[in-house]
Amino acid sequence: MTWLITGGAGYIGAHVVRAMTAAGERAVVYDDLSTGVPERVPGGVPLVVGSTLDGERLARVLAEHSVTGVVHLAAKKQVGESVEQPLRYYRENIEGLRVLLDAVTAAQVASLVFSSSAAVYGMPDVALVTEETPCLPISPYGETKLAGEWLVRATGRATGLSTACLRYFNVAGAASPELADTGVFNLVPMVFEKLTEGAPPRVFGDDYPTPDGTCVRDYIHVVDLAEAHVAAARVLSASPGRELTLNIGRGEGVSVREMIDRITAVTGYDLPPTVAPRRPGDPARVVASADRAAAELGWKARHDVQDMIASAWEGWVRLHPEAARS
Ligand code: WQD
Repeated sequence: MTWLITGGAGYIGAHVVRAMTAAGERAVVYDDLSTGVPERVPGGVPLVVGSTLDGERLARVLAEHSVTGVVHLAAKKQVGESVEQPLRYYRENIEGLRVLLDAVTAAQVASLVFSSSAAVYGMPDVALVTEETPCLPISPYGETKLAGEWLVRATGRATGLSTACLRYFNVAGAASPELADTGVFNLVPMVFEKLTEGAPPRVFGDDYPTPDGTCVRDYIHVVDLAEAHVAAARVLSASPGRELTLNIGRGEGVSVREMIDRITAVTGYDLPPTVAPRRPGDPARVVASADRAAAELGWKARHDVQDMIASAWEGWVRLHPEAARS
């Protein structure tokens, strides 16, 4: 099988490329390099620089590399930015996917794995989010992921394309320091940044209805997430016409306060957090039921929060050597 990995020069994509090639699959990366970096693409894996809005280019790449499956990760992914620039998100995430699906079906590609998100659930009021929990996204970003799932499933039903929509929960960690997330948009890097500045990390609200009052999330190591893609790709290849929609999480809730405590322990910075106002749109608790992914893929996360923080910190120190504590 040859897999086209859109967004393969990005943080998650680069991990998926490595997991795929380690599993013996051929990979080709398609990335517009808007946030991706070519150095993340391993030697021996072709990198095609292009946009998912460019259908002709996609058609050529699918044919030239005899692509049999696509993992589609190329997308905009910042919730706040999507509120400010919704049309850009609809264009890149929905129109980009529509153009890709057109090329994929014309080329008779057999399988597609789509990068979805827990953001499709919005503010779920349940202890464990299953795939049957109603999807009520509260940001344009979440809407683009839900609409993307509709496009993917409808195309699969109409054409026989095998599809998997993977709903990622809170991704963290790195396989190696040079593959770490370079964006500072999520809790772990935002805490690293504060600590490195010598400032206390911020807890956005401590009056939520949770055991310690801070928000609870389901953190998943990017290496485990990448392996879920390989497992999904294998299942799709073995069963034409398959349709999977799966949560990719660990099924374990960790609070913001617990995360910050672990981060200060790993980094050696002893700066107690300050409590800041709630961030608008933050649900109190979002934790996956990971049962369906286990049943359908035979996949289970292997890495814990400690692994995520320690590996993310190595990546942070590589980029910010002044942050290291002896
Ligand atoms: C986690 C918790 C914050 C920074 C987002 C998207 C989601 C998915 C993952 C892509 C929240 C709190 C954060 C800080 C804090 N993205 N926090 N202090 O919002 O759960 O999920 O990223 O698919 O769709 O919504 O992730 O890492 O931003 O925040 O207290 O300095 O940490 O309020 O409760 P979130 P996050």
